[in-house]
Amino acid sequence: MSHSTDLPIIVLKFGGSVLTREHDLANAVHEIYRWNREGFRVVAVVSALGKTTDKLLAQGHHYASTPEPGALASLVATGEATSAALLGLALDRAGIPAEVLDAPRINLRTRGVVLDSEPVSVHADVIRRTLRDRAAVVVPGFVGLDDEGRTTLLGRGGSDFTALFLAQQLNAARCRLVKDVKGLYERDPARPGPLARRFRHVSWDDALKLDGRIIQHKGVRFAKAHEFSFEVAELNGRECTVVGAGPTVFGPVDQPPPPPLRVVLLGLGTVGLGVYRHLIRRPDLFEVVRIAVRNAKRHANEDIPSYLLTSDPELAVRTPADVVIEAIGGVAPAGDLIAAALRNRRHVITANKAVIAERGTELQQLATDSGVKLLYGAAVGGASPIIETLATLTSDPVESIDAVLNGTTNFVISRVEAGIEFEDAVREAQTLGFAEADPSRDLDATDSLDKIRILARLATGRDATIGEKRGVLGGITTQVRSAVAVNHHLRLVASLRNNTVSVAPIVVNASTPLGSLAAEENAAILRTRSGREIIVRGKGAGRWPTSEAVLGDLLQLARDFAYAPARPRESVAAREEVLA
Ligand code: HSE
Repeated sequence: MSHSTDLPIIVLKFGGSVLTREHDLANAVHEIYRWNREGFRVVAVVSALGKTTDKLLAQGHHYASTPEPGALASLVATGEATSAALLGLALDRAGIPAEVLDAPRINLRTRGVVLDSEPVSVHADVIRRTLRDRAAVVVPGFVGLDDEGRTTLLGRGGSDFTALFLAQQLNAARCRLVKDVKGLYERDPARPGPLARRFRHVSWDDALKLDGRIIQHKGVRFAKAHEFSFEVAELNGRECTVVGAGPTVFGPVDQPPPPPLRVVLLGLGTVGLGVYRHLIRRPDLFEVVRIAVRNAKRHANEDIPSYLLTSDPELAVRTPADVVIEAIGGVAPAGDLIAAALRNRRHVITANKAVIAERGTELQQLATDSGVKLLYGAAVGGASPIIETLATLTSDPVESIDAVLNGTTNFVISRVEAGIEFEDAVREAQTLGFAEADPSRDLDATDSLDKIRILARLATGRDATIGEKRGVLGGITTQVRSAVAVNHHLRLVASLRNNTVSVAPIVVNASTPLGSLAAEENAAILRTRSGREIIVRGKGAGRWPTSEAVLGDLLQLARDFAYAPARPRESVAAREEVLA
């Protein structure tokens, strides 16, 4: 099986203004995942968190007024090394496969003085190879190596240069510097004075007239010399400033941010609670207005305001809101609740594969008729954006699929390989929140079949014929362990061929994309009409991967709201009446 992919690359740079502290890493994860969902592989270049570089420089100068540059560079580079490693860990927790590639790994060579050098070469192939079956690589910005392999720095603001240099060397489709503002302004918009206009396009020369602390001039001169354009934007931004050949033109006047999206949550289990935790991190974007739970008393010890909880999901879907997130699972009553929410003109986001497999066509029609969105990116593959990648491939449609779509069975197989008994492994998967309420849906291939049916419908536009369905219900220990002995692994593979879907256990070589999956990971090999083979991988089950996917849908809605004309809302009185 070949590992080819030609998904375009985007280089994203996260500076100290958006990564002010560890708490902000989740925002960088969401941004990376956003671009994965839009069909890109991501190179994330990071600066040190917040004011770390200033602190490290001060620490170095504590020893001597002119510290030895090599030692100072090594000390300061720890800031980027730390933020890159932390972002790698945050991506892993969210189930997004990524690797941290530092300057020695990619052989990022520089010339010039140690503390203010310029990049000259990099092993771009290492990055490209790593991105074949990973969503992202993380590169510490600002840091390189000289001819002797000593650590060098690219000067203040040097992470911009790292990002621009990598984008040029990789021939990336896009390069975006992510800041805490919507783009580049004629002057600092935070300062008092007349309204600062934002550029829609700015020429390299005009960008060089701006303050070098906003955008590193060395980097801009490099972009100009190589005639490539790049973007400056905020997190989750749709608008941006394009820095390029020009001409320089101003964009529209900044609108005040829209009010937060009002969210109703149905269910507070593995997925619901994870989503809730994400939502309360971003009060600027989201306001939780109701949570429907089976038993409110069970949540008494959690830090959730009791007035938000109701045991009446029908009341919850009537609560004035912009979006309903269904995290109950199962076809009933979830399907009827989704239908009611759509009829009430709420956007609906669900992770529920069973209901989408069973009633997806009807619910989609209802959403269209009501003029709202039904989003279910989390229903297939957890944090692997299989649904979204499929949607980006419309001009070269997907004709066949082979995929591992059930995290529980893959996890159980990996534990049986490690010598654990089958039943104990299933119990572990339940404890870790991977398994369905009834784990036989995982093991007997029902869950995988639901998911491949959804993918087939999206790929072909119609419901597929259902073929073979075989799971891994016990008795697999010998098969699992003898496969490992010859460097193979048992996998529960869901396939689409000639408009027929099937699921069956198959033994595959360990070095293939499906063979190399670890524990609860999922992956899909999408084969297109033109013969491309695209691999989408990620953790397929568990609280954080699944909530990451739900957040991806929510942030998509938040972008729609931020850039769309205001929609009339119900009056506060009407809202209070229902909340009473
Ligand atoms: N039980 C499912 C799995 C959860 O194990 O894959 C994610 O859909």
